[in-house]
Amino acid sequence: MKNDRAIGVFDSGVGGLTVVRSLMERLPSENIIYFGDTARVPYGIKSVDTINRYASQITEFLLKRDVKLLIVACNTMAAVAYQTIKDLSDVPVLEVIEASAHNAVRQSRAKVIGVIGTPATINSNAYARAIRHCDKTIKIYSQACPLFVPLVEEGLFEHEATNLIAREYLKPLMAEKIDTLVLGCTHYPLLKPLLQDIAGPEVTLIDSAQAMADIAADLIAKQKIANDGNDHPDYLFCVSDVPYRFQAIGEKFLGRKFDRVEVVNL
Ligand code: DGL
Repeated sequence: MKNDRAIGVFDSGVGGLTVVRSLMERLPSENIIYFGDTARVPYGIKSVDTINRYASQITEFLLKRDVKLLIVACNTMAAVAYQTIKDLSDVPVLEVIEASAHNAVRQSRAKVIGVIGTPATINSNAYARAIRHCDKTIKIYSQACPLFVPLVEEGLFEHEATNLIAREYLKPLMAEKIDTLVLGCTHYPLLKPLLQDIAGPEVTLIDSAQAMADIAADLIAKQKIANDGNDHPDYLFCVSDVPYRFQAIGEKFLGRKFDRVEVVNL
């Protein structure tokens, strides 16, 4: 296998760029191809069948681009379509849920963990399963936060409206005295300062983007597939609909300007 093959990262839209950002920092010599399904986002309120169908199409697209590793940045796809993606792939597949679950279990002292995510992610119970798999004694409290994705996409990271809604969503979790909060959605790292403020300093926030980059770095080292010595990594961003909005908000998620954006038809 040639080590200069790209890492394929995919998401329902713009949110997975938080994972790309962490990967760029953690693995600065790796080439990356990103696919964001901007024509069909959001996935978090869609049915399991639909999410699986979309996930298969994206997987096939990235495999045709000869990626060496697939990263499912989208928590919703990871929660309901991971097996479908894995069955289609002849390269390793990493997903955010296991990465964050491990991290949360490691951090929690009180063994009371809160999880927030899209309705599809929370209804799938994937986080609760992954956390219990690490430690059966942990208490888990989950909360779907359907309004967070549109608020983040509008750029209202610190807005009073977001603050009020976040307080409502976090109230039942705080009542259970969680000491760790898993941000189980690609969009939530952008709400970190606000959520930390509401949860208080004693609650540890688990950012799935960082957890994902750590796991990817481990796997690349173990499998000896690092693209060492590459000072000019190639970043390609593919989307399924005109990139205007993607470009406008995506750069906030990515923390830098895009190199190349391509519209593709799946
Ligand atoms: N990428 C999705 C996730 O992480 C959020 C956006 C959506 O609902 O499609 O769950």
